[in-house]
Amino acid sequence: MKNLEGDIMGIIENKIGSVVELCDDPTPEPAGIIIFGASGDLSFRKLIPSMYKLFKNRKLIDFYILGVGRSNFSDDDFRNKVLESLDFKQDVVKKFIEHIYFLSGDYDQDELYINLKEKINILNKKHNTKNNKLFYFATPPNVYIPIIRHLGKFDLNNEDENFSRMVIEKPFGNNLESAKKLDCELHKYLNEKQIYRIDHYLGKETVQNILMMRFANIVFEPIWNYKYIDHVQITVSEELGVENRIGYFENTGLLRDMVQNHILQLLTLIAIEPPASLDANMIHDEKMKVLKSIRRFNVDNLDEFVVRGQYTDGYINNEFKKSYIEEVGKNSKTETFVALKLLIDNWRWSGVPFYIRTGKRLKKKLSEVSIVFKDVPHSIFSDFYPVKFEPNALVIRIQPDEGFKLILQAKQPGSKICINTLNMEFKYRNFFDYEPQDAYERLILDALLGDQTLYVRNDIMEESWKLVTPILERWENSDLYYYPSGSWGPKESDRLIEKDGRRWRNYENI
Ligand code: BG6
Repeated sequence: MKNLEGDIMGIIENKIGSVVELCDDPTPEPAGIIIFGASGDLSFRKLIPSMYKLFKNRKLIDFYILGVGRSNFSDDDFRNKVLESLDFKQDVVKKFIEHIYFLSGDYDQDELYINLKEKINILNKKHNTKNNKLFYFATPPNVYIPIIRHLGKFDLNNEDENFSRMVIEKPFGNNLESAKKLDCELHKYLNEKQIYRIDHYLGKETVQNILMMRFANIVFEPIWNYKYIDHVQITVSEELGVENRIGYFENTGLLRDMVQNHILQLLTLIAIEPPASLDANMIHDEKMKVLKSIRRFNVDNLDEFVVRGQYTDGYINNEFKKSYIEEVGKNSKTETFVALKLLIDNWRWSGVPFYIRTGKRLKKKLSEVSIVFKDVPHSIFSDFYPVKFEPNALVIRIQPDEGFKLILQAKQPGSKICINTLNMEFKYRNFFDYEPQDAYERLILDALLGDQTLYVRNDIMEESWKLVTPILERWENSDLYYYPSGSWGPKESDRLIEKDGRRWRNYENI
């Protein structure tokens, strides 16, 4: 008996052991990481801390990080800044810091790139990086084109035995035309395999899980269509306002900032057909089909499908918040809230609306996708229980409190006919020994590994711009609705969904 148990345990351990092995990411080839715009906020807040974690997890072994920027930093100045941002004192940080350098210069001048090439050659030898280079564009987008032209001019874009890849931060263009122009310029010097258009939502654990959930289980696929799904809701709300990014935001607005990229990416993952494999291009091909099937907006009748809003002052968690206009210090028609109704004209989704709402300074921070199912075709309980049931729903919580829940009806113990809504809930933090991996950690590692699955292909980026650009053009100089900080957006956002006999769901209390 003991032996048998021992054997079984052995099998289980082996299985779990092999799963653990599969769950560990490969270690990428040696490489130098060159960050343009390294003295900016993104670099200290996200990029370098993510690289530090990769280093701690032994995913960065032979490497250097070369920050490039206009600030007049020496290597030591930059290292000190990095130390402040990491806020760690362990020995491992000291080791990490030894891999960090800085080069200062003007992005428009040849001189910077002459020095860059020289420094890369020295660091390449010193850190055995086999001349592999990952360039990260974290500058304001208006210098992307000068940088890429110079990298081309000084031959830093070429690949031979080595790799030379470019990660391009959003915003990728400001509308369809500027996005195409940037893309065309990139393609003069690079092939698509070298270009990594980042959308950090794709690196979030819960967003990656959408494909697993849909295609590693059999239970959802048969009902994942217009026959069983009434509608889909996507809410991405933030308590934060535009904070210190007014200059950027004032020329951008929320449709460009959140919908053209993050939310459309989320939507495609919910809506795609099963790809034949996890191959990046197969997934991108399927996403592309979804985007192409989204019904174009009739700009003469935009109010039927789109609501734009801007926050006024109000309270969030009992704290007073100023209006957007006060923050910008001038009159402005930039939207800080968008609600949309989208339709996907294909077999799976015919007639199933996707309602989206996203905004700043809303009641709480929450990113959630709700798949709301249809009512049962006939209720045998109606004589005793005339109330309409809460429909079944699968609620995918992207953040915070990551997980998902299934909303079901069940008999409440006690009297014979008493039905209540219950919530079967899974939370990452209860189930896994889980310290959420930052999306940037995932995505930087993927770029070093040459895996583009979680990056945005050029046709997808273009198609997303094609969808939103007519709205942006129509909105120029047009009016918007207002909502108090700390609310769920303008009343018109409720009307958008309520006129279809539906309502924004709040599953918090179920
Ligand atoms: C960024 C937007 O891409 O995403 C910001 O530019 C927004 O305006 C942010 O606040 C939201 O990201 P997250 O990961 O906090 O949901």
